Amino acid sequence: MSQTNEFPNLPADCKSMLCKYLTKEVFEALKDKKTSNGFTLADAINSGVKNIDSGIGVYAGDVESYDLFAPLFDPIIKEYHGFSATDKHVSNLNPDDLIAPNPDPDGKYIISTRIRVGRNVDNMPLGPAITKEQRNKVEKDVSEALMAMTGELAGSYYPLNGMSEEVSAKLIADHFLFKAGDRFLEAAGLNRDWPEGRGIYHNDDKTFLVWINEEDQLRIISMQMGGDIKEVFSRLMTAIKEIEKKVPFSFTDHLGYITSCPTNLGTAMRASVHIALPKLAEDMETFKAITDKYHLQIRGIHGEHSESEGGVYDISNRRRLGVTEVQCVQDMYDGVVALIKKEQSL
Ligand code: ADP
Ligand code: ARG
Repeated sequence: MSQTNEFPNLPADCKSMLCKYLTKEVFEALKDKKTSNGFTLADAINSGVKNIDSGIGVYAGDVESYDLFAPLFDPIIKEYHGFSATDKHVSNLNPDDLIAPNPDPDGKYIISTRIRVGRNVDNMPLGPAITKEQRNKVEKDVSEALMAMTGELAGSYYPLNGMSEEVSAKLIADHFLFKAGDRFLEAAGLNRDWPEGRGIYHNDDKTFLVWINEEDQLRIISMQMGGDIKEVFSRLMTAIKEIEKKVPFSFTDHLGYITSCPTNLGTAMRASVHIALPKLAEDMETFKAITDKYHLQIRGIHGEHSESEGGVYDISNRRRLGVTEVQCVQDMYDGVVALIKKEQSL
């Protein structure tokens, strides 16, 4: 882990939250601190320092980082989630509480629905501070727990190490697998020892998938074609509860499920649809006004930092902390209903 006494050279036009909240005072107060895993301020900010086009720019090395470096993390968490240092996180994993009839039963707009949560193993450092041995242990423990899943969730584990280029390229193109070489993760220390310790578990239908040791130790995913959001949510809730019986997750009452990036804290949930909105795409101002109103984020169809193709967008909830899992999906659902209504009127 690295340490620096020099305030980083951040350009004046840098727009990341790191640039906004890493004042000289905050830097001086935190620069000599180190968590019990040896994680420093220099480690926490490296991704945003190396990638000045970051939106956020910081990562945690362990649950302790959120306390020790709170003068930097707290204002970022406040701005991203609207969640204060005195607020308490709330959880609701009950699919019966979700009101989400298919907003597009004729399949004119919604191509597919995906909901994922991030999870990390309790009493382990997070990815940016984990050792190779610890990462390999996470892979072993989690993949063994998954191999015991039954029924619809039964599947196989495919380690990245030894996977052919052809197979991984197809899994990525079909939206099932994470990409290699992300520069934000690279600078956060999350790609160390790649591809060892990483892999993907999935059932035969690829409606239930788990990424192991990417940005978080687990990304638990439920997805399928079409807009039956409730079915996707229900499958995910069942899977999370099953996995949690065998793998204890890192969780605090204040921050909910602990993740390496502060944008994912709390529910760690991103519920998305791939949706064709070719007319709205011609009026991005109206499009953005709707997504802002419903707390939604617009991504391209090959994941974060990708572009839209053919008027198809990835629309997802933006808030994840201080709202329940049911509310995360409800944000997405209500916004998608509004987007479809607008598209139809154009
Ligand atoms: P994450 O959702 O884990 O934060 P990304 O935004 O990079 O990360 O998305 C991961 C993958 O999931 C990408 O291939 C993306 O295209 C795919 N994906 C996201 N939402 C959907 C969806 N609703 N339908 C199909 N694939 C999706
Ligand atoms: N670190 C990147 C940035 O600041 C990504 C932040 C949110 N996304 C994520 N995958 N954690 O732009």
